Amino acid sequence: MTSVKNLPLIYFLGILLLVLFSLLIFSDLNAKDSKKKLIVPDINKLKDGNFKKSVLRGQDLVKKTPDLLPDHVGGKISCTNCHLQMGTRAKAGPWVGILARFPQYRKRSASNATIEDRINGCFQRSMNGKPLKTDNQAMKDIVAYMTFLSQGYEKDDQVLGQGIPKLVLNQEPDVKNGKRVYMAKCAACHQSTGLGIAVGESRVSIFPPLWGKDSFNIGAGMARLHTAAGFVKHNMPQGQEGTLTDKEAWDVAYYFSRQDRPDFKNKHNDWPKGGKPKDARY
Ligand code: HEC
Ligand code: HEC
Repeated sequence: MTSVKNLPLIYFLGILLLVLFSLLIFSDLNAKDSKKKLIVPDINKLKDGNFKKSVLRGQDLVKKTPDLLPDHVGGKISCTNCHLQMGTRAKAGPWVGILARFPQYRKRSASNATIEDRINGCFQRSMNGKPLKTDNQAMKDIVAYMTFLSQGYEKDDQVLGQGIPKLVLNQEPDVKNGKRVYMAKCAACHQSTGLGIAVGESRVSIFPPLWGKDSFNIGAGMARLHTAAGFVKHNMPQGQEGTLTDKEAWDVAYYFSRQDRPDFKNKHNDWPKGGKPKDARY
């Protein structure tokens, strides 16, 4: 008889579990919904004054970085060669709304990073160069540009399309196929040498180098397979974005990311408390 008596209790527990489960699913959906749209503010709506001047200088700096900051850039790469469309393109590391996410804890340094720290991370790795002091006017101008792009976002807001979505395939990359894809679909612009093209005295590339002494170093995010594959899948070949299969992006990213490039001398300080990603180069 006890089993019959207990039946309502079992139903009750079952329903309770169902309710809890659906709450979980819904809160997850809500978390996704709560990402804000990526909206690029209109620079013409900024009123004239010192802030606007600083924003405009910042725009120039991220576009012509090696020519304007020769002592801080080792190669022939500008910030916007990776942060596409002046740092506004979704899935290409956009800076829209970025100030809302900083300061931020980072596993690579096991510390809280300010926006200036993060920018200097790219100076030292992606640009194979040297950091800027926080009170350097160029740093202030770059931060001013990002502050302008963050208008309308509030602390802790997440933005749709932020970052670079990683691409991870459950198979060994095929370097021969990667080379084939590279020659067929990338070399016309980035050159079969991978060294890209810059014209005359300028170190601002028309087609940026993917490897060699003028490219990003092994400490850069782009030197990691999952990030490189995700970037290429969503953003390359330029003009035909999204046409590569996942396998083509995976193989070609392996091919170019493993080529010779500058070392990163502070690499031994990375991930001091663990959390090193699987695709790290060291
Ligand atoms: C070779 C490519 C490359 C270049 C050049 C580059 N970056 Fe980055 N940057 C990256 C990658 C990759 C990430 C990490 C994105 C991710 O993990 O989703 C990143 C991240 C960032 C972030 C944090 C983005 C976020 O959403 O949290 C900032 C800010 C940034 N870069 C600024 C700069 C600045 C300023 C320059 C020029 C001085 C620059 N970057 C040059 C590749 C590059
Ligand atoms: C039509 C020319 C063109 C083709 C084809 C092309 N790219 Fe690019 N790529 C560019 C340009 C231009 C940039 C810099 C974008 C900017 O500054 O706005 C770039 C940037 C990049 C970057 C980031 C910058 C750097 O130096 O690391 C990577 C990585 C990249 N391309 C990989 C590839 C791969 C892999 C392919 C082939 C699947 C490819 N690209 C095909 C023109 C091209």
